Amino acid sequence: MNKEEKDLNKMRLNKAVALSGISSRRGADDLIKAGRVKVNGRVITDLSFKVSSDDEIMVDNKDASSKELKYILLNKEKGYITTVKDELNRKTIYSLLPEKYKNLKPVGRLDRDTEGLLILSNDGDFINRVIHPKNKVSKTYMVCLDGDFNTKVINYIKSKLKSGIQLDGALRKADSIKEIASSGSYKAKQCIFEIVIHEGINRQVRRMFQAVGYTVSSLKRTKIGSISLSSISREKYKEIEKN
Ligand code: URA
Repeated sequence: MNKEEKDLNKMRLNKAVALSGISSRRGADDLIKAGRVKVNGRVITDLSFKVSSDDEIMVDNKDASSKELKYILLNKEKGYITTVKDELNRKTIYSLLPEKYKNLKPVGRLDRDTEGLLILSNDGDFINRVIHPKNKVSKTYMVCLDGDFNTKVINYIKSKLKSGIQLDGALRKADSIKEIASSGSYKAKQCIFEIVIHEGINRQVRRMFQAVGYTVSSLKRTKIGSISLSSISREKYKEIEKN
């Protein structure tokens, strides 16, 4: 590549750091401003600084060269913690994946006893886009409740969750909620709902149902945006291309 071609291929430093998977582009801005990013051995705090593929980028003195971006769909089983390392040595989601995916980060979390779709990636911008509520990326859950149900109770649950529950200082609403099944038509002992939300505060779905008097007996995430758990079929995980 001659100098002109290299100049054309230059990109903003924050983009290059984000492509390394270390952070999102906005997170990279913070790292740059804090003086934690070096280019060819020199600390750069100028947010408009551009780099080419030949430049050596370090964050906190660790290599931050661009990596191939990866996206994994995982069908999480119950009993696994969504964390990179658990201090209590409990089983983590990484024990469901081959070693080569250990550097990928989960896109949001599922509780230990929640199963279903989890995406892992090293694309910081993508992770931020999916989890930030302002982008309204929908997350769909199948919720199983035990208790006494009839049409009145079911309608009450639906209308309360649609109008919103006060949790952690804000009103959390279901974007949509529908009853999928209840065992027996008159007085059911179990009821399954499909609920769609676009936020992901801690144990949000369980707490929303708790607030209307029901304990969730099983919870499964079936979709994130348009990506469906069924696309994994029976495998435990699958690598996908991002369009
Ligand atoms: N809501 C919950 O309560 N738990 C999860 O794991 C995900 C959403």
